[in-house]
Amino acid sequence: MKLSIFGTGYVGLVTGACLADVGHNVVCIDVDQTKIDNLKKGVLPIWESGLDAIVERNVNAGRLQFTTNVATAIQHAEIQFIAVGTPPDEDGSADLQYVLSVAESIARNMQSYKIIINKSTVPVGTADKVQARVEQVLAERGGKIAFDVVSNPEFLKEGAAISDFLKPDRIIIGTQSIEARKRMNELYEPFNRNHERIIFMDVKSAELTKYAANAMLATKISFMNELANMAEILGADIEEVRKGIGADPRIGYHFIYPGCGYGGSCFPKDVQALERTAAQIGYNAELLKATESVNNRQKARLFEKLAKHFGGANKLSGKTIAIWGLSFKPNTDDMREAPSRTLMEALWQSGAKVQAFDPVAMDECQRIYGRRADLTLMGTKEAALRHADALVIVTEWQQFRAPDFDLIKTELKTPVIFDGRNLYNPERMVRECITYYSMGRN
Ligand SMILES: NC(=O)c1ccc[n+]([C@@H]2O[C@H](COP(=O)([O-])OP(=O)(O)OC[C@H]3O[C@@H](n4cnc5c(N)ncnc54)[C@H](O)[C@@H]3O)[C@@H](O)[C@H]2O)c1
Repeated sequence: MKLSIFGTGYVGLVTGACLADVGHNVVCIDVDQTKIDNLKKGVLPIWESGLDAIVERNVNAGRLQFTTNVATAIQHAEIQFIAVGTPPDEDGSADLQYVLSVAESIARNMQSYKIIINKSTVPVGTADKVQARVEQVLAERGGKIAFDVVSNPEFLKEGAAISDFLKPDRIIIGTQSIEARKRMNELYEPFNRNHERIIFMDVKSAELTKYAANAMLATKISFMNELANMAEILGADIEEVRKGIGADPRIGYHFIYPGCGYGGSCFPKDVQALERTAAQIGYNAELLKATESVNNRQKARLFEKLAKHFGGANKLSGKTIAIWGLSFKPNTDDMREAPSRTLMEALWQSGAKVQAFDPVAMDECQRIYGRRADLTLMGTKEAALRHADALVIVTEWQQFRAPDFDLIKTELKTPVIFDGRNLYNPERMVRECITYYSMGRN
């Protein structure tokens, strides 16, 4: 099948590459000329394991093209995906300007029936807004062309995006149109060989399903962080508690790791946007507010622990802090809303210097913060330790799990580790004579 995808970010590019890989003929379109020029040269705008090979294979096979030409992309296919950003507005609600601008472009250029699929995460009612915008433009053009608007939210995880897309837990399709339903079945048929993964529902439920999933996951994290903070005060070990509750199949082990807060481009903005939706309908979403505020507090915990250890935030001035991990989670270079940013910005505010290492996010860090005297990006995790006053682990990259503790002791000025991800065994740290602070353990 032929399809066009607006937006070549994490979602659009992965969607385009994976749908081309199963045999569809895909045109990816973006307004960012540099991104498209780079993609044409094989340079990807994001780091996602395995994506470059899939893009290359499908470009070479002629099934995947990149363009900035709106008219070409719209003429190419009946199926038009919208996968552009929906960043938070000033008040936290989802900013729909990019989604609606794509809807308008489609309406201005379409000559025949189109299925417009919203893959971006959008509030309930957005499909109606897209419908209205397209109808308005078509009316201005003085013609009547049939079209359907479908909600097909994306559930891929950065860092595992390819496998998530190719083997999805479920494919949510919100539509009442018989024609769109038929075409969606055809489009996703290659993903249903093992078992049927499509769940059809009405459009509003599909839109809400995406927010419900992210809000549930964020709530699980904030719940565990709340308990971790209490465990610390009570003298309990949250890791024991985690195992104890995870054994209950009604709770399960997934997504109950305590830590230094959730980040990324989805959970923070989606919890906020759902809260705004609640406010707009006059509903007081107390649990969502708590999830967000517990997370904001948690992102400050590492800095608080550092300040306490050194005798106050003002004592951090002139100190050098080694940081392992900048991305908001492992296996991605995405630093949007990352806990590392909260920590670094608080350290800089106190006059401390940061010496950081991340396996893939250092270019992104440089892009965000530019050159500054109080930030040095080091080529290896060992180099980041050199003459630092403390080590802080912010992202649980695999390569941080079993470090050379002797080296840590020799490289740091004083052997002290602040572990935002509970990677190490506190008893081992006692044996190693390392002062060790973690989350929810004593
Ligand atoms: N990143 C994730 O893990 C993830 C997962 C599931 C859902 N989502 C949702 O998917 C959507 C996209 O997220 P993302 O992380 O891929 O965003 P992104 O910021 O990485 O990419 C968005 C892209 O859209 C492009 N764009 C903006 N306006 C455009 C237009 N009019 N025409 C063509 N391109 C345009 C931008 O230039 C950019 O390249 C968001 O709603 C997000 O919440 C993201």
